[in-house]
Amino acid sequence: MKAAADSQNPMSETPNRNLALELVRVTEAAALAAGHWMGRGQKEAGDGAAVEAMRLILATIDMDGVVVIGEGAKDEAPMLFDGERIGNGSGPAVDLAVDPIEGTSLLAYGRPDAISVVAIAPRGTMWSPGPAYYMNKLVVGSEARAALHPRLLAAPVSETLSAIAASLRKPLGDLTIFVLDKPRHQKLIADIREAGARVLLRTDGDVAGALMAAMPNSGVDVLMGIGGTPEGVIAACAIRALGGAMLGQLAPQKEDERKVVEEAGFDLGRVLTELDLVQSDDVFFAATGITDGVLMPGVHYYGDGASTVSIVMRGKTGTVRRIHADHRLDKLREISAVAY
Ligand code: FBP
Repeated sequence: MKAAADSQNPMSETPNRNLALELVRVTEAAALAAGHWMGRGQKEAGDGAAVEAMRLILATIDMDGVVVIGEGAKDEAPMLFDGERIGNGSGPAVDLAVDPIEGTSLLAYGRPDAISVVAIAPRGTMWSPGPAYYMNKLVVGSEARAALHPRLLAAPVSETLSAIAASLRKPLGDLTIFVLDKPRHQKLIADIREAGARVLLRTDGDVAGALMAAMPNSGVDVLMGIGGTPEGVIAACAIRALGGAMLGQLAPQKEDERKVVEEAGFDLGRVLTELDLVQSDDVFFAATGITDGVLMPGVHYYGDGASTVSIVMRGKTGTVRRIHADHRLDKLREISAVAY
């Protein structure tokens, strides 16, 4: 019986129990390679180092992976492009979402909460954003899950925050809302302040913002505002594992984006949830800090070594691990092609 059941479950092969722990080696390698580029003002160089490191380690993992959320189309991204096959091909069939550096500018300018992220889910369960670059998002943790009715995404900010505050049994004035500090959010920020809540502004990095909103005791209760659609899918993997909730609606920022998205058949009126964005709870998620931040410390170098802190999650069990690792860079450089 078990063998029959297993053959129907693409994630049921033995290695699946350890995939989250395998993934953390991927984000650690990317963070270690990228960390050298902190504050050097060179976005592309840092990203290139992280992409290469991530790809080298991903190739060693027992899985038959397809990149669903990657670095872009093949012609513009030579590595980790959307549709690329990844893994050694011998394990379960999975979809992959990768962001070797989430917040390339955060890294380049030494700002907090640049992270390296990877997530996997059974083949065919990750929503593909196609040409849709921007998405309006609302994210909360598990305690406010019940409050997140789809109509709240378009409701007045004060109504949305009141519902969330009531669910958290917290005065609205104590709520902290993560918002990307972009001109498009001027009204949103004013509305949040007007409602009486507090705002945590970051120039970039709304995957980190979604993690903050979904994780207990991060100091952030909610993420609001428009960010990347691929980032929304990656965040949804973690939100599912954490039991949080997310609403998302495509929000093209320019007329030509709107046209392309509509032509590709996407419904701009549809409010998606984390259950639509990743249609399985058999998800694995790993993130490693590159610069110091609210979520975790970044890469710290010392002598021949460096330390990293990562968060690793498994959706099936809901286990969330924090992994502190000390790496001997001198030894790693002897045995690995990664630019440690
Ligand atoms: P990169 O790491 O690709 O630079 O993305 C950073 C980011 O801030 C994301 O976290 C966010 O979803 C998106 O860019 C927002 O895009 P924009 O800067 O165009 O508003």
